[in-house]
Amino acid sequence: MPAAAITFSNIPHPAPTPADAREASLVDPGFGNVFSDHMVMIDYTEGKGWHDATVGPRQPIPMDPATSVLHYAQEIFEGMKAYRQADGGIALFRPEANARRFNASADRMAMPQIPEELFIEAVKHQVEADKDWFPAVEGGSLYLRPFMFASEAFLGVRPAKQYKFIVIASPVGNYFKSGAPAVSIWISDYSRAAPGGTGAAKTGGNYAASLVPTGEAFAKGHDQVLFLDAVERKWVEELGGMNLFFSFEDGSIITPPLKGTILPGITRDSLIQLAREDGLNIREEMYSIDQWRDDAGSGKLVECFACGTAAVVTPVGHVEGPDGGFDIGSGGPGQLTAKLREKLVGIQRGTVADTHGWVTKLD
Ligand code: PLP
Ligand code: COI
Repeated sequence: MPAAAITFSNIPHPAPTPADAREASLVDPGFGNVFSDHMVMIDYTEGKGWHDATVGPRQPIPMDPATSVLHYAQEIFEGMKAYRQADGGIALFRPEANARRFNASADRMAMPQIPEELFIEAVKHQVEADKDWFPAVEGGSLYLRPFMFASEAFLGVRPAKQYKFIVIASPVGNYFKSGAPAVSIWISDYSRAAPGGTGAAKTGGNYAASLVPTGEAFAKGHDQVLFLDAVERKWVEELGGMNLFFSFEDGSIITPPLKGTILPGITRDSLIQLAREDGLNIREEMYSIDQWRDDAGSGKLVECFACGTAAVVTPVGHVEGPDGGFDIGSGGPGQLTAKLREKLVGIQRGTVADTHGWVTKLD
């Protein structure tokens, strides 16, 4: 169904958060703790398509106990941010890429496609409804969480015939609490994704599977978990919620290739493009954990960083596994990490020219 055929109804909020309480919650929001007043919701019914789009108060969703997402986890989501720009305006960063990845995830999870324009329109409505919820903190933004789940009450194992697409918003500051100049990561014995599995889809189950390994990482004092490939247990794939880049003393940079087991990060793709434009030799190439340890020890590896919507660009300073650990570079952001981060954030915040058409300004 063309998105233009769908109009959004506005349901007025009966009791929006009072301004003083809202402002207090925006002082130090952390990540994922504070929620705005509104949500967008659109229903899908097989044979009818997308219908009943609303922008209304954020509220609980009543569910039958047989709702199939609760049993078979047919669920996908996106993570994106709306940025307050230097000129006071609001902008989205590559929302079309989120819409495309959402539909790729939907394909893998046997869920219906949502027209890209409808996805983007829904996100814009959400931001418009909650534009008072931008935290003023350094690096702050309005994190947007579009998601879709199987809402049919049915216990047979087959794709559901009804879905809900919802967008919620959370004002956020930095993802990592520690404020340390570089994060420390733990090499997990668990696998995140196998060939032929769901690793490239942004589906809740991948994150459920990462909780025990992430818990181990936290218990050992690290900030994130590192997953190796599930077959040979030697190739570096990604972190629990971020992609990885490695930069070497000869000026080359590598990042693990997209082979279906890692999430195709939009930050990853943007940084590859920005690095290439700067004439840097950046390759998508497999990198083993042993090579990583050797290169860090010999000084051949000068920088390593993690990237994602939530984490932006964050240096990795220490890696630890059951066989011991190693440090990378100076333990803080290296030159390349700082330069790429500055460029990316500058485009998102409107202080660096957007030569790619990545920024969608909202008025
Ligand atoms: N890898 C995983 C597992 C993620 O959850 C994320 C975050 O969305 C990323 C990588 C980075 O993706 P993006 O840059 O699109 O946020
Ligand atoms: C993001 O970076 O948007 C993510 O989704 C990572 C994590 C918070 C799940």
